[in-house]
Amino acid sequence: MTKNTVLFSFPDNDELAKKIVKKTGFELGDLSIREFPDKESFVQIFTDVKGKNVVILCGLDIPNRKLPPLIFLADLCKELGAKKITLVSPYLGYMRQDIRFNEGEAITSKSFAGILNGYFDKGITIDPHLHRYESMSEIYDFPFKVLHASEVVAEWIKIHIKKPVLIGPDSESAQWVSKVAEKAGAPFIVLEKVRTGDREVEISVPDVEKYKTHTPVLVDDIISTARTMIGTVEHLKEAGMGKIVCIGIHAIFAGDGYEALKNAKVCDIITCNTIHHKTNRIDVSDIIVKELV
Ligand code: R5P
Repeated sequence: MTKNTVLFSFPDNDELAKKIVKKTGFELGDLSIREFPDKESFVQIFTDVKGKNVVILCGLDIPNRKLPPLIFLADLCKELGAKKITLVSPYLGYMRQDIRFNEGEAITSKSFAGILNGYFDKGITIDPHLHRYESMSEIYDFPFKVLHASEVVAEWIKIHIKKPVLIGPDSESAQWVSKVAEKAGAPFIVLEKVRTGDREVEISVPDVEKYKTHTPVLVDDIISTARTMIGTVEHLKEAGMGKIVCIGIHAIFAGDGYEALKNAKVCDIITCNTIHHKTNRIDVSDIIVKELV
């Protein structure tokens, strides 16, 4: 689909878009997305899409802000004659509310998917928070390809970390940590986490005795408030482990998350460029390109 494909990028994803366009030869679409003073969205495209395949690169962090212009753009492209519309959302939001934890709560992952359904022919994302859903097809009507960052994360660890032991902060992280550990040829342990509030997290004291001479590398899919990472870091330090490296696939860093994690005095904070952030050191463009061409 290299020829005849236009890629439109949301402003947050411009750097990743440039990499993808360079590697695929897609035409970079010209568009304007902005807010009117009353906070309604304005969307305009300046690239012809008639009879062409359209790729929309839109990471769905801060989803409440991005969802309306995303829908308007997809709808506009379809109306102007685009052949096939593919959504590339390296981080897909609203996946964590996948069950009614308390009576009366909205299962927003399902409702969010319900809004996107109908606008796209295909979706591509990286390590979505698939915990209680086994596959994207449980909530998405269009084919949504799930890609994994485990290979590139493992590669980074192999190159940069001496004698790593990978640590997952909770059972939900086991799926990412085990894969990365296997690919990096490193041991791993998974801890127990209890979340008591949006910013309150308790982590079980790990049995780290036998890994005292290793470099602890925390790996999680999402760093949001960073309280999960911070709780884990504190316990590892109490258990006598130092020089802790934190790796997150998706750098949300909500509120003071980044500052708070830096203040926890970890050795390094590394993320993938699924969400643009100054900690991005692991590039996922090749993974996406492979799926697109
Ligand atoms: C949880 O289910 C996820 O895998 C992450 O551990 C979680 O989203 C991290 O959130 P926070 O940074 O707010 O502790």
